[in-house]
Amino acid sequence: MTDPDRLAFYDSPEGAEEYLDEYRKLHRKLSDRRERRILQRYFARMDGVRSVLDLPCGWGRYLPTLRSAGAWVLEADASTSMLKTTRRLHDPKPDVVRCFGHEVPLADDAVDLVFSMRLNHHLVDPEVRRGHVRELFRVARRFAVFTYFDAASLKNRLRVLRTRLGLTRKTPKNTLRRAEVRALARDAGWRVVADPMLFVVGSGHRLVLAEPADA
Ligand SMILES: C[S@@+](CC[C@H](N)C(=O)[O-])C[C@H]1O[C@@H](n2cnc3c(N)ncnc32)[C@H](O)[C@@H]1O
Repeated sequence: MTDPDRLAFYDSPEGAEEYLDEYRKLHRKLSDRRERRILQRYFARMDGVRSVLDLPCGWGRYLPTLRSAGAWVLEADASTSMLKTTRRLHDPKPDVVRCFGHEVPLADDAVDLVFSMRLNHHLVDPEVRRGHVRELFRVARRFAVFTYFDAASLKNRLRVLRTRLGLTRKTPKNTLRRAEVRALARDAGWRVVADPMLFVVGSGHRLVLAEPADA
């Protein structure tokens, strides 16, 4: 589960507004641009996607993009304030559901695409991080796109080292191993098609595109 203080902040009206403000900052604009460049390649492979689960949606940063090919998009988040914000900002107002990333109230194969940007690294318990990835593969029928923080990334290795040496009070990142994510995909009958790092230096996020193994 997400750190309770962090979750409470996201759930507050101030937290939702602050996350919206974040994307006026230069470093966020750069990572947003890089994400979109990778995503463009992923979306180019996807024809006929009619339904999308965007979890967590935040304020709906990706809603216009996900809707642009005509798909119905369900916006989902653990934060009521984020759901209110996405309904306030977007026209037509999206359908929304409040839920956790590892407990999605949808049937198996419910949507063509499950899209889960920047959630996994918030999940403190490793079993919940793995449960989140399993849940994406359960609910998606054709594609899963998601991020996770790579345990082997330079950023994480430096963080672990600095923590061990007592040079920082920050806790190590909430990570998964690349091989672990591939094994989760394999166990669910899926395969990882691509999983580049967002940035080799300065970020440890990988952006995954996965498909059913028999696609
Ligand atoms: C970093 S934001 C990402 C939002 C959006 N995907 C984006 O990239 O702009 C993290 C979001 O995850 C939501 N969140 C945090 N913990 C969650 C959980 N366990 N399940 C579902 N949503 C969660 C927060 O409310 C917040 O909207």
